[in-house]
Order: sequence, then structure tokens, then C-alpha cells
Amino acid sequence: MDTLKLNRLAIIGAGKMGETLVSALVGSGVIEASDVVATGKHQERLEKFGRNFGVETTLDNTAAVLDAEVILLCVKPQVAPSVIEELSGHLNEKQVLLSIVAGLTTEMIESHLNQEVPVVRAMPNTPSCIGAGMTAICGGRWATADHVELGREMFSRIGRSLVLDEKHFDAVTGVSGSGPAFIYMVIEAMADGGVKMGLPRKVATELAAQTCFGAGQMVIEKGAHPALLKDEVTTPAGCTIDGLLMLEEGGLRVTLIKAIVEAGRRAGELVDG
Ligand SMILES: NC(=O)c1ccc[n+]([C@@H]2O[C@H](COP(=O)([O-])OP(=O)(O)OC[C@H]3O[C@@H](n4cnc5c(N)ncnc54)[C@H](OP(=O)(O)O)[C@@H]3O)[C@@H](O)[C@H]2O)c1
Repeated sequence: MDTLKLNRLAIIGAGKMGETLVSALVGSGVIEASDVVATGKHQERLEKFGRNFGVETTLDNTAAVLDAEVILLCVKPQVAPSVIEELSGHLNEKQVLLSIVAGLTTEMIESHLNQEVPVVRAMPNTPSCIGAGMTAICGGRWATADHVELGREMFSRIGRSLVLDEKHFDAVTGVSGSGPAFIYMVIEAMADGGVKMGLPRKVATELAAQTCFGAGQMVIEKGAHPALLKDEVTTPAGCTIDGLLMLEEGGLRVTLIKAIVEAGRRAGELVDG
């Protein structure tokens, strides 16, 4: 993985995710800042981006993709189709178009491009900005396993990344894309419980947040089913089982399942064609 090295990277849409990716990729030696070119809509914001990361900038998307080995598409879903049409005819089969646009399928990208260009799709999430992201990766019609692996390696610089069939991407959006918001709500509610019991807000929030972080790490590192880990905490006739009973009565599981299904369903509606 440490061997990943890019010669020229274009970031189309230098916003929050563009920032996260450029700092991680430059920081981990995947690319030199001087080999990155970034584009945006507003000159002032773009210039600031360029100054912050020491990268070249231009308002011209088609000029940016010239000579780029990888083109990272990081614009909002609403503008993505028109930006891809703008790029159509300016890419070649040796380049890779790597899109992080939520809801935009590789098939949609390919139909707007109208060229046989390898397309890789990634679905990251917001904790990527602190290197704790979760990204799913898939390839389009012209992408080889190497192209997909290149995408997976790039996103492993901002957290965990895995290759997954594209048919699951709406579900990914529901679980790990929207998931951080659901967990923030859980953290806030757990902290409220602590406050109700007399804890200072700051202490209660830290306890709740670190507990969610630690529980997540346990599931990943131990590789055990979460129910088994839950049972380890649950002493017969102890306090945890009383708490679990309240969660079951309140419908926590059903509510979370429905929240994820609804968010995933909505993901499929984000982009028009
Ligand atoms: N944030 C996440 O955690 C996350 C997770 C998964 C997927 N995504 C996807 O990532 C994409 C970017 O999200 P974000 O949060 O980084 O959004 P953002 O901060 O709003 O960034 C979008 C960027 O696109 C630029 N832009 C707008 N129109 C453009 C055009 N015609 N040509 C070139 N650049 C243009 C904007 O420039 P100006 O600033 O000058 O207007 C802005 O810098 C979205 O498609 C989203 O679905 C984000």
C-alpha cells in the first residue's frame, strides 16, 4: 500500500471532501502537492484552497483534467451531470475518473461521458476528515480490478475502505454515509442521560463519545458478533440488562433499521439521470 504513487491528480470540486482527500494523499506521500490541480466554482474560495494546500488551481475543469492520471469528482450531486458532460471528450482510457458523488451510479457517469473511460465510484463518510472514514468502492464498465484497487488504496488513506458490488451502494449510504448522524444522535441522547443523573454536560458527552468509539473498535478488532460483545457487558440481574430492556421497549433496533432503510432509499433519488 505504501507503494501507491500518483503522478498527476485533478480534483474537480475543491470543497470539504476535496480538502480531506488532498491533505491525506499529500500527507501520506501518494502525491506531491505540486502535482495536484483543483477546480471550483468561485475564484476566491478556490484561491484559498490553493494557498492552504499548495496546489495549482483553475476554474477550467477541462484544462484541469489534461494530463491527470486520476480525476477525483467531488462536486455536489445536483451539478455532477453537467460537470461530467463538460468533461466528455476531454478524457481518455488511460485516465481514471473517481467519483464520490452520492447517488450517482457508474452507469449514469458513463452515459454522460459518452467515452470508454474507466470509472470508479467511492462512497466515503464525514469521519474521513479525521482519518476515521469508511468508504465503499466499486468499478464501472471500463474499470479493471487494478483501477478499483487504486481507488480502495486511495481511500484507505482516510480510514477503512472496502470493495463492494455497486448494487449495495444505496445501503452503504444508509449505514455508513448517513450513519455518523445517527450515532451523533445516540451520543447526544446518552449524554443527556448522564446529565439527567447529574453529570456535567462536557463529561457526559466525552463518556458517551468515547464509549461509542470504543464499542465500534471492539467490533472491528475482535471481529466478534456485536450481540456476543453485548452479552459480555450484561451481568445476570445486573444494571445493563435493565437498560437493554428499556432500549427494547423504546424500539431502538426497529427505529435504527428503519432509519437506515429510509436514508438508503432516499440516496437513490438524489441525482436526476
Ligand atoms: N461530505 C461527505 O462526507 C461526503 C460523503 C460521501 C460523499 N460525498 C459527496 O462528495 C461530494 C462533495 O461534497 P462536499 O461536502 O465536499 O461538498 P462541497 O464542500 O460543497 O464541495 C463541492 C465543491 O464543488 C465546487 N463546484 C461547484 N460547482 C462546480 C463546477 N461547475 N465545477 C467545479 N467545481 C464546482 C464547489 O465550488 P465553490 O466552493 O466555489 O462553490 C465546491 O468547492 C458530494 O457529491 C457528496 O455527495 C460527501
